[in-house]
Amino acid sequence: MGTSPTPIGSDSTIDAGLPQTVEFDLARARRETPGCELVTHFNNAAASLMPQPVLDAVMGHLTNESLMGAYEAAAKANVGAVCDSLANLIHAEPSEVALFDNSTRAWNTAFDLLTLRPGDRVVASRSEFVNGSLTLEHAARQLGIEVEIIPCDETGQLSAEALRELMDERVKLIAVTHIPTNGGLVNPVAEVGRVAKDWAVPYLLDASQSLGQYPLNVKEIGCDFLSAPGRKYLRGPRGTGLLYVRSEILEQLKVPTPTQDAGTWLDDHRYVPYEGARRFEVGECYVAGRLGLGTAADYALGWGIERIWNRVQFLANRLRSQLTSLPRIQVRDLGVVKGGIVSFTHEYLAADEVMRRFSREKINVKASPGRQSRYDMDARGLDSVVRASVHYYNSESELDRFIELLAAME
Ligand SMILES: Cc1ncc(COP(=O)(O)O)c(C=O)c1O
Repeated sequence: MGTSPTPIGSDSTIDAGLPQTVEFDLARARRETPGCELVTHFNNAAASLMPQPVLDAVMGHLTNESLMGAYEAAAKANVGAVCDSLANLIHAEPSEVALFDNSTRAWNTAFDLLTLRPGDRVVASRSEFVNGSLTLEHAARQLGIEVEIIPCDETGQLSAEALRELMDERVKLIAVTHIPTNGGLVNPVAEVGRVAKDWAVPYLLDASQSLGQYPLNVKEIGCDFLSAPGRKYLRGPRGTGLLYVRSEILEQLKVPTPTQDAGTWLDDHRYVPYEGARRFEVGECYVAGRLGLGTAADYALGWGIERIWNRVQFLANRLRSQLTSLPRIQVRDLGVVKGGIVSFTHEYLAADEVMRRFSREKINVKASPGRQSRYDMDARGLDSVVRASVHYYNSESELDRFIELLAAME
């Protein structure tokens, strides 16, 4: 039995009832993922296993660089198509996409493009990743801005109503993390978009954990910026990332410090930045990685993002309910809609120890430490959680073995 496709982007239309079963060509997904032969990979929130086509794109270009020269190889490659693929994935225009090396630089670039003054307020989700939180706290000291955390509702997701109550003329940025690093929560980002629009306040969305697992539509979400890396749920190579910048906001932003590849130098004293988001890029880059990133976007689109989202939710939900039946285990995921990151604690084993024991069995999980999501973990009194993040290529039998081993951990 198949599930009906999840409508794209708008929170109100995403079914909070999780799929019970999903039609999915698992054999193909695993055949095309060489790592599946060697390891059970439940660390997709750090970096997914690359599929063969991504590997081929990266290795093929590196080979070309070594055989014909790096610049000559780049001239023959279609690097321009990478932004087309990413734009398709998030329903943006290609000119609204800039390529980066990771999500942190993309996020910080967006933040630095805003003009913030002493007394301005920034409201941020409790789910912010360490980088966003540190950048905001740094700006509070350096620029004299005020940082406030948007309260959560009783389920633990960001409360759009509470956000609305926080708003006033002094709020100059809404910063929200869609899916946090430390759990399955999916924040109601389109509701946030409506508040941002009503107040005409820039909205910066960290989609690091949602790109590749969730059907992102920047228009329906209503964000002005979206940052994400390529290596996580999108299954691209490390050292890649993107920043979406809504075209209408571009002219309100600071002009970035000129670089030779981000604009045209007309004469000794005049420089014009490129029209679109490309003006934020630095030219010298990991071309093989970028080609792999474009291939990863096409590959995900080939599977269908709604299909991926349904499969990921199905597996994560299955794992959560298996975990719930174990003594000594407490599932820690918050919210109404939940994605592929499953977080839990063991009554007396530290998260690091659980990770080590799984590693001996060739199962990759991660101990997610409090410092990576301090606003949230401090609020919940948690030092760390075990993070088992599943992707569509994981199998039900991998989940069962995981549960068996965990049940036997003393
Ligand atoms: C929610 C979230 N935001 C941002 C980041 C940072 O991404 P990057 O390491 O690509 O800079 C991460 C990385 O784990 C993350 O989970």
